Amino acid sequence: MFDYTAPPNLLQNRIILVTGAGRGIGAAAAKAYAAHGATVLLLGKTEENLNRIYDQIEAAGYPQPAVIPFDLETARPEQYIELADTLGKNFGRLDGLLHNASILGPRTALEQVSGESFMQVMQINVNAMFMLTSNLLPLLKQSTDASVIFTSSSVGRKGRAYWGPYAVSKFATEGLMQTLADEVENVSSIRANSINPGATRTQMRAQAYPGEDPDSKPCPADIMPVYLYLMGSDSTGVTGQALNAQ
Ligand SMILES: NC(=O)c1ccc[n+]([C@@H]2O[C@H](COP(=O)([O-])OP(=O)(O)OC[C@H]3O[C@@H](n4cnc5c(N)ncnc54)[C@H](OP(=O)(O)O)[C@@H]3O)[C@@H](O)[C@H]2O)c1
Repeated sequence: MFDYTAPPNLLQNRIILVTGAGRGIGAAAAKAYAAHGATVLLLGKTEENLNRIYDQIEAAGYPQPAVIPFDLETARPEQYIELADTLGKNFGRLDGLLHNASILGPRTALEQVSGESFMQVMQINVNAMFMLTSNLLPLLKQSTDASVIFTSSSVGRKGRAYWGPYAVSKFATEGLMQTLADEVENVSSIRANSINPGATRTQMRAQAYPGEDPDSKPCPADIMPVYLYLMGSDSTGVTGQALNAQ
């Protein structure tokens, strides 16, 4: 596991948006960020999942989060503009953005992947991530120390048979991360890095490996050290890097 112990107040007074915050790794990250003092903006498709995480954060006595139901598959460009406007009016800035929401898509040979399913994976895993990044950059620039974290995969660093659109989407994720990191390196206090979570006990992992014993893999809470490291000021100056959670 990535070796880092976060100080308890690491993210005090920080405003951090997490996509796919309703379950899996995103929910664990949202709770870990809140536990370290952040006001977390919980974005995801299924409102009841987001509300459950909201209740858990509130019951723990962490800073009050906000729930943002937002379908990354169907959102139109003007909805991203509205989202950025609303966040600007309510918070004035953004100190962190964790791009975590993704779908697995079909695990099959490329010639069997339909155009529809390829485009669905690209829409959620890539296009939506670009739209959020570009529309939220003005708010990230208002922060004195902003961190953008992209979620990759081992198949986003080396292609693998039968991982089709998902693998391609994760290569695009690394590309967006590197391009952003290079673009903002000398002009702002924004850093951008990617995390490969590694095999982690979630619904997506179970979908990809249905025959596997889930208990043989770490749970999302176990892989949080690198998520905390990259989000907090201990990683100031680290940018353009591809890190592994495990
Ligand atoms: N688990 C692993 O072993 C593993 C390994 C490598 C990389 N990863 C990466 O880690 C990240 C988290 O994966 P996970 O395992 O936690 O996945 P997961 O359990 O399947 O959770 C996916 C999250 O994405 C959200 N999401 C999906 N479609 C959406 C849409 N159209 N609009 C908004 N939100 C949407 C889901 O929201 P709803 O609750 O509303 O459905 C959910 O919160 C992903 O980027 C994944 O590729 C995971």
